[in-house]
Amino acid sequence: MLRDVSSSLLSEQLAQVQREVDSVFDAFLPVPDDTRAPLVEAMRYAAIGGGKRVRPLLLVATAELYGVDRDTALRAGCAVEAIHVYSLIHDDLPCMDDDDLRHGKPTVHKAFDEATAVLAGDSLHALAFEILSDPAISSDPFTRAEMIATLASASGMNGMAGGQMMDMEAEKSDYDLRSITRLQQLKTGALLAASVEMGAVLGKIAPEGRGHLRAYARDIGLAFQIADDLLDVSGDEAKAGKALRKDEIQGKQTFVTLMGAEKAREQADALADQAVAHLASHGEEAELLRALARFIVERDR
Ligand code: IPE
Ligand code: IPE
Ligand code: MG
Ligand code: MG
Ligand code: MG
Repeated sequence: MLRDVSSSLLSEQLAQVQREVDSVFDAFLPVPDDTRAPLVEAMRYAAIGGGKRVRPLLLVATAELYGVDRDTALRAGCAVEAIHVYSLIHDDLPCMDDDDLRHGKPTVHKAFDEATAVLAGDSLHALAFEILSDPAISSDPFTRAEMIATLASASGMNGMAGGQMMDMEAEKSDYDLRSITRLQQLKTGALLAASVEMGAVLGKIAPEGRGHLRAYARDIGLAFQIADDLLDVSGDEAKAGKALRKDEIQGKQTFVTLMGAEKAREQADALADQAVAHLASHGEEAELLRALARFIVERDR
């Protein structure tokens, strides 16, 4: 029963944040009346519609614990999502995963061309920091600086991009479970963790008060990638909107190749339970974060 209540709360909240994120990107990305038009069209093509928007919802749900204004949290959520969307555009390029389908439609380099896809990724990367440096995020320059620093470190060599590098090497190296965990924490965990952290920064929660949220974020980050790897093996391509069975073709080591599907599933579920347990000091106001932890491991796309 409780699960039904929280899963319907979650689907409503996901649908709402999906609409809101689309409208923020729409406002941020007017198509210019000059030869940059295809660049911005490619950015819009990638950023509007399609994604689950888990990162913006995580940020909004965390910020909500501390009474942060929704529009502000949503803008910050779009900054993280801009980095995520850029990472997907580049991840799909022929020099990386070489994918033709994303969100059920041709990838950006297929719909436009490779150069436009690279530049659309670059420009979304820059847009993220433009959003965070705008006083509309916070009138307090220290808060803006902390938001920028948090997202920057989750995006670069110590975060997503570093994890992508390790992932490229996962086709050649003999990674053990420890290295795969590290890889996934950077590749996928860092941006999810930054979403939670930035919600707490907007809520003016000092680093000492964020321990339980960091623990929650670490667990869902790992669970998220295990679920992605499981979907790669046994998911439905039409639902996922992207090519699956790629990890095996590329000879990539993942949690599933190292542990087997059954153990990986158990591990993902255990991580979701553990994530929920970290929220024990919160009451009903954290129900959305709890529901998100479950959704992350139970999702089918
Ligand atoms: C997919 O992320 C790539 C990974 C980091 C595993 P999502 O599953 O959040 O992608 P969208 O945005 O919802 O398509
Ligand atoms: C992509 O991981 C992670 C990032 C873009 C940082 P994957 O390569 O597994 O993601 P999918 O399966 O293409 O969505
Ligand atoms: Mg990849
Ligand atoms: Mg990929
Ligand atoms: Mg994958």
